Parts: sequence; C-alpha cells; structure tokens
Amino acid sequence: MKILLTGSSGWLGRFLAPMLRKAGYAVTGLDVAPGVDTDVVCDVADRAAIDRIFADHGIEAVIHAGALHKPDIVRYPAQRFVDVNAAGTLNLLEAAVAAGHDRFIFTSTTSLMIRADVRAGKAGGARKAFWLDEAFGPLQPRNIYGVTKLAAEHLCRLYHDLHGISTMVLRTGRFFPEEDDTHRTLSGPNMKANEFLNRRLTVEDAARAASRSIGKSAAAGSSGVCPVCAYAFFP
Ligand SMILES: NC(=O)c1ccc[n+]([C@@H]2O[C@H](COP(=O)([O-])OP(=O)(O)OC[C@H]3O[C@@H](n4cnc5c(N)ncnc54)[C@H](O)[C@@H]3O)[C@@H](O)[C@H]2O)c1
Repeated sequence: MKILLTGSSGWLGRFLAPMLRKAGYAVTGLDVAPGVDTDVVCDVADRAAIDRIFADHGIEAVIHAGALHKPDIVRYPAQRFVDVNAAGTLNLLEAAVAAGHDRFIFTSTTSLMIRADVRAGKAGGARKAFWLDEAFGPLQPRNIYGVTKLAAEHLCRLYHDLHGISTMVLRTGRFFPEEDDTHRTLSGPNMKANEFLNRRLTVEDAARAASRSIGKSAAAGSSGVCPVCAYAFFP
C-alpha cells in the first residue's frame, strides 16, 4: 500500500517512516521542511500541490502527522495554525475522498483536553485527579494548537459521516524529548520516571500506534478517537 506520511521530517516522522517501510508499506514522506525521509517538500495548506502529489505518487492512504504544534505557538500567528492544522487536514481529507481511499489516520493530542480547570488542579479546587480518556469532556482547549487540532478531529468525523472513509484520531500524549513543564518539584531521572508513568510515551511507541492503526482502521469501517497514553492529570 502506498502511504502519504505528512510531517516526515519531524520527530515522529523520523521514527515512523522507517517503521512503515519495514512493515512493507511504500511511503511518500511529505513535509514543508526537508529531511532524510521526506520525498516531497510541500505545504499541506496548498490544496493544488496536495492533489498533484496524490496523482503523481498513486497515494492509497494517509497518515497525517504534519502540524504546527504547541512549541510553535510562540513562533507563528494563530492564522497559520488554522491554515496548517485545520485547512491542511481538510485538504488531505478531500484529496483522500476524491481518490477513493478507505482509511485516514490523524495524529491529534491529549493537550486539547487540558482545560483551564484541569491545568489549575488542586489550586483551582480539584479534589481528585482528572482521568483523561476518549470519554473526557467537555473539551475546552485553552490554546490555538488545541482548538485547531479539535477542529481537525471534527473534520475527520464529518468526512467519515459524509463519505464513509474510515478515520482514526490518535489523541497522543507527549513524546517530545524535552522535560515536562508541569511537574516542577521532582528532578532528573525521578522526574522522567514520573512523566512516563503519568503522561508521556516514547516516540517509538507513538510511531508504533500510528503504524498499527493504518493496518486496522479500514477493517473497522468507522470513525473513532483513540487515546495513546491516557493519563491521570493532577498537577
Ligand atoms: N511531540 C509530542 O509530544 C506530541 C504530542 C501529541 C501530539 N503530537 C502530534 O504529533 C505530530 C508529530 O509531532 P512531532 O513531535 O513529530 O512534531 P514536529 O514539529 O517534530 O514535526 C511536525 C512536522 O510537521 C511539519 N510541518 C509543519 N507545518 C507543515 C506544513 N504546513 N506542511 C507540511 N508539513 C508541515 C514540520 O516541518 C515538522 O517536520 C503532530 O501532529 C503533533 O501535533 C505531538
């Protein structure tokens, strides 16, 4: 199967592209920045370019991991988040439906579940930990990253409802290598261990989740949200 992997120059893409190839998929890596696993340098917000790539490479399924994400908030205006994360996802869904695809994997984030009261924790009056899974709500993302990821999740569900394409949203916990910014009282290995216990996963596990989802989603014939590393949040 010929897979378009967006975000192929990114942290996840660098692990996911080789993993997919090893699993037998033909991978076309797409990213706005060059990289060893990137075959096409392209902006997902450019609909005409996306259509050309689908035609030129005979794309049969998409894993959409390219995005502006939380650390980009300080670098880009809100409009760019809307263009890349929301409109870019719409472009890919429309191209996938036009090409007759049966599956679409979207990498979302647990951070859209961190509402103001969750973030405030004990200081905000919480009496017990928030257990964050796919049933958690109401969702009230507190930044433009979360808002645009939630919009893209809704687009996945809508395109399934309208066109029958299987869409799987992987609402993923943190896997970037930087230290967590919420637990400040621990340090070093002790802090890392607590991050992994409570809210993180490794980049390899995040890649494995996406790689396995692409094989399973068509059979499901459905639209779903799957937490990858659900956690109890109590800062
Ligand atoms: N890293 C984490 O902890 C984490 C947690 C939850 C969800 N996610 C999600 O997982 C995915 C991958 O995250 P990552 O850590 O690899 O991020 P990353 O920033 O390392 O990679 C994202 C890639 O997307 C590319 N990109 C940005 N704008 C683009 C555009 N307009 N067109 C095409 N490509 C574009 C970037 O160049 C980058 O290579 C993202 O969707 C992110 O939101 C990441």
